[in-house]
Amino acid sequence: MTPEEFRQAGHALIDWIADYRATVESRPVMAQSAPGEIKAMLPPAPPKQGEPFAAIAADIDRVVMPGITHWQHPRFFGYFPSNGTFASLLGDLLSSGLGVIGLAWQSSPALTEVEEVTVDWMRQMLGLSPAWSGVLNDTASTSSLVALLCARERTTHYSLSRGGLQAEAKPLIVYTSAHSHSSVEKAALLTGFGREHVRMVPHDTAYAMRPYALDALIQADLAAGNQPCAVVLTTGTTTSTALDPIAAIAPITTKHGLWLHVDAAMAGSAMILPECRFMWDGVEQADSLIVNAHKWLGAVFDCTLYFVRDPEHLVRVMSTNPSYLQTAADGRVKNYRDWGLPLGRRFRALKLWFLIREQGVEGLQSRLRRDLANAEWLEGQIKATPGWKVLAPVPLQTLCVRHEPGWLTDEALDLHTQAWVARVNQSGAAYLTPAMLDGRWMVRVSIGAEQTERVHVEQLWALMQQAATTKS
Ligand SMILES: Cc1ncc(COP(=O)(O)O)c(C=O)c1O
Repeated sequence: MTPEEFRQAGHALIDWIADYRATVESRPVMAQSAPGEIKAMLPPAPPKQGEPFAAIAADIDRVVMPGITHWQHPRFFGYFPSNGTFASLLGDLLSSGLGVIGLAWQSSPALTEVEEVTVDWMRQMLGLSPAWSGVLNDTASTSSLVALLCARERTTHYSLSRGGLQAEAKPLIVYTSAHSHSSVEKAALLTGFGREHVRMVPHDTAYAMRPYALDALIQADLAAGNQPCAVVLTTGTTTSTALDPIAAIAPITTKHGLWLHVDAAMAGSAMILPECRFMWDGVEQADSLIVNAHKWLGAVFDCTLYFVRDPEHLVRVMSTNPSYLQTAADGRVKNYRDWGLPLGRRFRALKLWFLIREQGVEGLQSRLRRDLANAEWLEGQIKATPGWKVLAPVPLQTLCVRHEPGWLTDEALDLHTQAWVARVNQSGAAYLTPAMLDGRWMVRVSIGAEQTERVHVEQLWALMQQAATTKS
C-alpha cells in the first residue's frame, strides 16, 4: 500500500467509523451472532496473494459487524462503561501511525516525556499529592501483578536476588476481599503466593472490607508463623462499586509493615470530581494505586494508570539493563521499561493526552456528573416501585437491582431474574449484566457510556419493567 492508497483507504475508514458512531443507536446492542457463526464466514487458510483493501473493508460489514456488541451504544449498561472518545481514538491512531517503540528514552524521547507529563496531569486531576509517580500500563490486571511482585520483594528484602520465593522460610500472605476483582486473586497466584495464602477478609453489609476482621486475620497468621505481606483494597468493586475503608485499614497495614495496594480501576475516574474523593479517603497512605482511564473516563482501551509512592523500589524490582539498551542519557531521563513488565512500550500516552486536551478537565467532570445524576434518578425510580429492590448502596453509577414478585423465592427467583435480563438483552434494545450477590442472581445496571443521556436511562427502566412483568 502506498502512502496515497493509505490516505484513501484511511479516509474511507474514518468515514465508516464516524457513520458507525452517529448511527450506533439504531443497532441491536448485543451481538446477534451464534457461536461459530463469524468463524464460518472466514476462510480457514490465509490468502496466498494480497487482496485489494476494498475487499478487506467490505468484510467489516459482512463479517465483523454481526459479531459486535456495541459498547459505545447509548443503551449499553453492561459490565462497565468503556468509552472510546473520538479524540482518544485519534491519539491511538497516531500512535500506530508513528509506529515507534519505547525501549529506552532515546528510542523516542517524546513517547516518554508526553507520558510523564500526562500521567502527572492525571495525578493532579485525581487530587493526589506530588508524592505519587505514575506510568501507563495496558490493564489493571497487569498492574496488580506488578504491585504484588513489588510487595513480595519488599517483604522478602529482594528474594529475587537470592533463592526467590522458594527459599523463603515463612509463607507470605495476601489479604483481600471476596468482592475484589478476579485479577487480584490471579495476580496473587501468578506471583507465587499460592491459593492457600490468599485470605478473603469478611465484608460488611455494604460489601466493604471489615478492618477488625483484617486485623484479626493478620494476628492469626503471625501467631501461626506466617509472614503477612500485602493488602489489596478496592475503591469501587466490580459487582456493586463498594468502597473498602482505606483510612481505617491503612493504620493496620502501617503497623504490620504490609504493602497496601488500591484497585480503583473503575471508580478512580470519579476522583476527578472533588465531591467523590471522600470515597478513597486514606489513599495517600497506600503504596500503589491503579485507575483505568480506559473505562468511564474515555481513553480508548487499553490505558491503565499505575501510581507508586516509591518508584526506586519499582525500578529495583523491574530493572534490566542489557548493553544494547544503554545510552548516554541514562541517569538523566526516565526509562519506563524499568517501571513494568514489557520491554517494548507503545506510545499509549497519546490517547490520554488527546482526551484530556480535547475535553478539558471541566468537560470530563460534567459528563461524569451527568452519569451520577442519571444513576441517582434510576435508583429513586426503582426504590419507589413496588416489587423492585436496589440491593446495594449506589455511591457511583452502578446499581444492583432485582425484581422480586412476592411469590417467588430462591431458585425460582434466580430463574425469573435470568429470564427477564435475557429478554432485555435479546431484544437488542439495551444490554445489562446479570451477576451474583450474596449467592443469588441480580442485575447490574452500569451507567456511563458517552452517549447515554437521561432519555436512554428512562427507556431502559421502561424496558426492565416490561421484561420483568411480561413473558414472551
Ligand atoms: C475493580 C476492577 N479491577 C480490575 C479490573 C480488571 O481490569 P483490566 O481489564 O484493565 O485488567 C476490573 C474490570 O472490570 C475492575 O472492575
